Amino acid sequence: MGDIVFDGIEKRYGALVAVERLSARVEQGEFLTILGPSGSGKTTVLSMVAGLTAPSAGRIHIAGRDVTDLPPQERRIGLVFQSYALFPHLDVFRNVAFPLAVRGVPREEMSRRVAAALARVRLTGLEKRRPAQLSGGQQQRVALARALVFEPDILLLDEPLGALDRKLREEVQVELKSLQRELGITTLLVTHDQEEALSLSDRLLVLNEGAVQQVGAPDAVYRRPASRFVAEFLGIANLLQGRLVRGGLRLEGSEAVVACDAAGRPEGALATAVIRPEQIRIAAGPVPGSLPAQFRQAVYLGHLQRWHLETAQGLRLIAQAGAAIPPQPGEVLHLAWDPGDAWLLPEPGLAASAAAATRAALLPA
Ligand SMILES: Nc1ncnc2c1ncn2[C@@H]1O[C@H](COP(=O)(O)OP(=O)(O)O)[C@@H](O)[C@H]1O
Ligand SMILES: [Mg+2]
Repeated sequence: MGDIVFDGIEKRYGALVAVERLSARVEQGEFLTILGPSGSGKTTVLSMVAGLTAPSAGRIHIAGRDVTDLPPQERRIGLVFQSYALFPHLDVFRNVAFPLAVRGVPREEMSRRVAAALARVRLTGLEKRRPAQLSGGQQQRVALARALVFEPDILLLDEPLGALDRKLREEVQVELKSLQRELGITTLLVTHDQEEALSLSDRLLVLNEGAVQQVGAPDAVYRRPASRFVAEFLGIANLLQGRLVRGGLRLEGSEAVVACDAAGRPEGALATAVIRPEQIRIAAGPVPGSLPAQFRQAVYLGHLQRWHLETAQGLRLIAQAGAAIPPQPGEVLHLAWDPGDAWLLPEPGLAASAAAATRAALLPA
């Protein structure tokens, strides 16, 4: 069992920086998710931990041991990829037994450990099936059993649920999370799916173009994003720009002053507030800090609706509504929120120093 320390790791392919000086620590037993768009360097980070890709610079430590120069099979790591990479011609038992077979584990012990791994993922009884005779969710669990069968220190998951449909994905997420807790295994998951990242992780590491954008607990990253990129990548973000005045934020090109908590920022400073759709209330009429906007359209999502709105200045906003009957298009609604719910993005200068502080805090002691 172990923690993972990234000490300034970097990966370059010619002029392309796939991963830019990454320093972070994943604690023993922690579930950390690397979240980012396609091409942001997520798989590259994972494959450097696994030993499948050599870093261009920096060191990786697992359980206090520098593993940077160790081959994959000496790193005590379990790996699951989106494609599962099961052997199609081998049955479930042999697929799961494979890592033990290559390690020369005696037959009796192998049978015992495969049985235990299959029981863990609730596949007992399916030992003789081939992968093609299993559902997507079952194949995924075979891959998980195979990754866990040799009791690795660390579990690496690269978009493991990407091939599953939505309902099944949520079921497998719940199972994966409880299995991870039960085993207490340090887990590094890679995904571009923000809901998956928010629901599974102890902490998120948001990556864009190879660079760390923010590291933090799901709730902190969602509510207090460090940048416009993070705000928009983690769900819908209404971004309001303006200048801070007494009592709120005066929107650009408008007389409207909306509610925000500007504590510690000078009056007159430029600022961008982030308001999530679920934080917007429809007030009965104009109230201090509210913003008038015309109703455009409702998007019905079953359990909720999203109302698309537009201010007189052409600023588009999205509010979440429950079962309310949508108004007529063109009707003016007064949007209100608690001042504390309007999160002000760190200003670029401040963001740079905050990023430096984050880096310093994440560096191994
Ligand atoms: N073997 C390689 N050779 C050249 N470029 C690569 C190689 N592997 C990855 N890249 C590039 O590195 C960047 C990050 O890739 P990757 O880690 O796969 O991103 P993600 O998993 O976030 O989609 C991409 O621009 C990708 O094209
Ligand atoms: Mg990838």
